[in-house]
Formats: sequence, structure tokens, C-alpha cells
Amino acid sequence: MGTEHDFYNNIKNWDFSKIQYEKDTLTDWDMYDILRKNATSNSRALDLGTGGGENVIKKFPDCLEILATDFSEEMVKTANENLVKSKRKNITFKVMDNLNMNTPDDYFDIVVARHTCIDAKQIYKTLKNNGMLILRGVDKLDCWQLKRMFKRGQAYNDSLPISLIDYENILDAGFKEVELVPIHVREYYKTKEDLLALLLKTPILNDFSEIEENTNLGDNEIEPDILDRYIKENTTEKGILLIRRYYGIVAKKTVI
Ligand SMILES: C[S@@+](CC[C@H](N)C(=O)[O-])C[C@H]1O[C@@H](n2cnc3c(N)ncnc32)[C@H](O)[C@@H]1O
Repeated sequence: MGTEHDFYNNIKNWDFSKIQYEKDTLTDWDMYDILRKNATSNSRALDLGTGGGENVIKKFPDCLEILATDFSEEMVKTANENLVKSKRKNITFKVMDNLNMNTPDDYFDIVVARHTCIDAKQIYKTLKNNGMLILRGVDKLDCWQLKRMFKRGQAYNDSLPISLIDYENILDAGFKEVELVPIHVREYYKTKEDLLALLLKTPILNDFSEIEENTNLGDNEIEPDILDRYIKENTTEKGILLIRRYYGIVAKKTVI
């Protein structure tokens, strides 16, 4: 496994409840609203790259079966601990690589993937006819001013935006009614420590493909002078502004 796997194994959970920030969401697209509208008590749902299960436990409606997977053993361990505390009954966590899925063919009604990588062909295979993929991703222009100052970060050197790559792969896999929605969010971090906590916990300033070539920096080291400059230029009455760019995709498997 590569450094991305080690990064998530070290982090162990996807819980941001201790970081203080406010947000304005400028795009009306919520993957969990779409999930709740489309899932029934008879649905089988798969959550790919589930992290510590924080969102699947809180946001998924009750269905017949929910399988939630992650390639990080540590994340799955945390997810099972969170599951015990939650008392939810119909969720199972399992270690699985999204790029090497071993779920049954024509089985799930809904596949959810939030902020994780996907293989559209494998998702298509595991979905039933009329099944639905609901995806949300972090796009190339996410935190772009910050990434430009640091001259690095998630997707910083990609020639095509990840949203376009996912969108085209989903079309090529055979999905129908594919819709790509840009999501624009303004986040305001209360203090420098809150922003720093976010940057240390997420791969915003990491480009996993580059880490091994990086000579001076540790895996998740943040240069303080650059961060101070960003904060100076982006401090507002509501806090330190970070402009987020996500994207949503909904797609259907319709076999004629
Ligand atoms: C940014 S977190 C998102 C967690 C969760 N989906 C959420 O939105 O709360 C990304 C998760 O995807 C997992 N991940 C990354 N690449 C993966 C892969 N190839 N296969 C399975 N999981 C992967 C990581 O271990 C991590 O837990």
C-alpha cells in the first residue's frame, strides 16, 4: 500500500467535531438529501471510503442492508467502535480497496462515495439495474489560494480537474442520466489553531504522488510563515476564510 493508505491509517478517524468553523454553502446540492429521497426500507446501500463511519452512522437512513468499506484497517476499527456506541443495527464495516472491490455483482441499489477515489466500472458492476451512484468529491480548485501559496496540495499538479475525470469515467462505464454539479462553500475558521488542525488532518496540502520526492518536509508539515501570510490575507469578521470547491455527481445504471 502507498502513502495515502498510511496517511489515513495514522489519522484513524474522520471526526471534525473539535474544529471550530462556520460555513456558507452556496450550492443547493446535498448528497444525503438525495440518498434519503431514493433509499427505501428495502434498499441495499454501499458506502465506499467510509472513514471512521461518522457520516454513514449519522446520515444514512435505515435500509435493509448498509455495507461501509475503507482500505484503512485503522479507520474500519474506529468505525466498528463508533457503531457500537451508536447502537445502529443494519450497518457492517469491512476493509476493502475501492480500486479492487470484491462486492457481489448486481447487488446494491445505491452506492455512495464521499471524498474518496472510485472505479466507476466496478461500481457499475455491483449496482443492480436501476441502481444509483451518489458521489461527492473534492475538486482541483479546492482551497486554491492556499495551495498556490504553498505551491502544492491535493490535485495541485493535475492537468484535468478530478470532477471531469470522474464524470467521464462514469459516462464511459455505461451510466445514464449522469449529472455533475459544482459545489461552492465558504468556510470560516475561528482561530489559526482550528485552520491548522484541519490542514494537519486532511490531505488538502498533500499530494500523495509527490511525498516521496519531497526532501525537506515531513508527511504533513505546514510551513508557519506561509500559513501566517494566508491568514493575514484572509481574516474576516466571521473568521479565517477558506474557499472550498467540491462537486457532486448522480448517475443511474439503466440496462435496456
Ligand atoms: C476524506 S476521507 C472521507 C471519509 C468519509 N467518506 C466521509 O466523507 O466522511 C477518505 C477516506 O477514503 C479512504 N480511501 C482512500 N483511498 C481508498 C481506496 N483506494 N479504497 C478504499 N478507501 C480509500 C481513506 O482511508 C479515508 O478513510
